[in-house]
Amino acid sequence: MTRDRWIYACSECGYETSKWMGRCPECGGWNSFQEIKHLSARTDVKQRGALHLPDSSQSKPTPLSNIDVAAEERLSSGSGELDRVLGGGIVKGSLILIGGSPGIGKSTLLLQVSERMSRRYGEVLYVSGEESLSQVKIRAKRIGASSPALLLTVEREINRICQQVEELSPALVVVDSIQAVYDSGIEGYPGSLSQIRQCCSVLMQWVKKLNVPVFLVGHVTKGGAIAGPKMLEHMVDVVLYFEGDAFQMYRIIRAEKNRFGPTDEIGAFEMRDVGLVDVPEPSKIFLAERPQRAVGSQVVATLRGSRPIFMEIQSLVTESPFGSPRRLASGIDLSRLLLMLAILEKKAGLYFSRDDVYVNIAGGLRVDEPAVELGLCISLASSFKNKEVCSRTFTFGEVGLAGEVRGVSQPEIRIREGKKLGFKRCILPAKTAKQLGEVPGMELIGVETVSEALECALEV
Ligand code: TYD
Ligand code: MG
Repeated sequence: MTRDRWIYACSECGYETSKWMGRCPECGGWNSFQEIKHLSARTDVKQRGALHLPDSSQSKPTPLSNIDVAAEERLSSGSGELDRVLGGGIVKGSLILIGGSPGIGKSTLLLQVSERMSRRYGEVLYVSGEESLSQVKIRAKRIGASSPALLLTVEREINRICQQVEELSPALVVVDSIQAVYDSGIEGYPGSLSQIRQCCSVLMQWVKKLNVPVFLVGHVTKGGAIAGPKMLEHMVDVVLYFEGDAFQMYRIIRAEKNRFGPTDEIGAFEMRDVGLVDVPEPSKIFLAERPQRAVGSQVVATLRGSRPIFMEIQSLVTESPFGSPRRLASGIDLSRLLLMLAILEKKAGLYFSRDDVYVNIAGGLRVDEPAVELGLCISLASSFKNKEVCSRTFTFGEVGLAGEVRGVSQPEIRIREGKKLGFKRCILPAKTAKQLGEVPGMELIGVETVSEALECALEV
């Protein structure tokens, strides 16, 4: 007879082994193994982890052309910014995981979405596994939520939650949070690997059966990833991350995974005393506190999805009091900073070897786009030479290892946005400038190399 047995699984990547290990051979995570019950092949299929997959027992191969697809129905979340990140609204029957550090505003946002959607589409079920009804009510009061179709429940057992969903058949379900719910049919405390996996599977099955969209809140670990098995992210349809500094008012939502849309869009919000408010023009905010004619500050045009976002790169280069100088980068990859320093040294003759270098993206944003490299070089050189950069100039362009400035995608969108924000000059790759020709109201300065760019940027 086959028996259930205990195995160990890595909470970071889901790697399974029969004995406990201190370090995961798959992902290298330390102390990440947890004991979980391995269900034998005979165990009732309802208890098994692969529940979220469609029933395959009777499926026959079907020609692709014979498969009918119902028109994808999207619901508006009531927030333009959230809809944008989701790829144009919430798809019915999708499971959306939203992660973020404590206090960032996950519960606030989802309560606001619940309120708006309940007014538009009918009943919404908000399942609070962490807070009491009166705590949720206090928050609801704060954001002015009073819709009679917004139903609250404090329930932590996943099967009972699904039962309620089936009885109500609401337009939307919010489960706050996956770490707080449990399945009484299996062992383990709420938040443990086996419980998270099981609850997500159960939920996934119901979501697909009832065709109701579900938002699932997930806590994040110290490293910033959603706590629980990586498999959780594989199972759900959409993974959103809520980012921003809890000390600052601005919050960004980005999609890490989206089965129904792009993953490069971001949504911007501001936390006010009445909850989260959409920020349709984030560039204006990120540039709002920019000092005029400052040394080491350069505005760059980046692109997130279809939207241009302007941000300010700030550099500070100071003589190092120690033998080994420090390099610190916030909002930008440290290896990218080191690379740009090496290029500036070799190609523009700026020697940073005795200086500390600090770089920051104002507003707490993070950028990974290579288009910021030219701006980063100008900002570093400006601080190094103690020369101002003209505050009405912005830039974009990738810098190659030979010091050449390379083109980036969709320059027209970036320039259009620059004009809208009141910039007068743009330093950009020479080839792109040639292609664009004359742009009324904007002086285009095409540069071929990084040293040419520094000459143009720092002469004023
Ligand atoms: P919360 O939504 O509970 O965060 P999470 O669920 O991600 O842990 O709370 C977010 C923070 O925002 C909290 O510290 C209080 C603050 N806040 C406001 O500033 N304005 C508001 O209208 C509300 C409801 C909360
Ligand atoms: Mg919360």
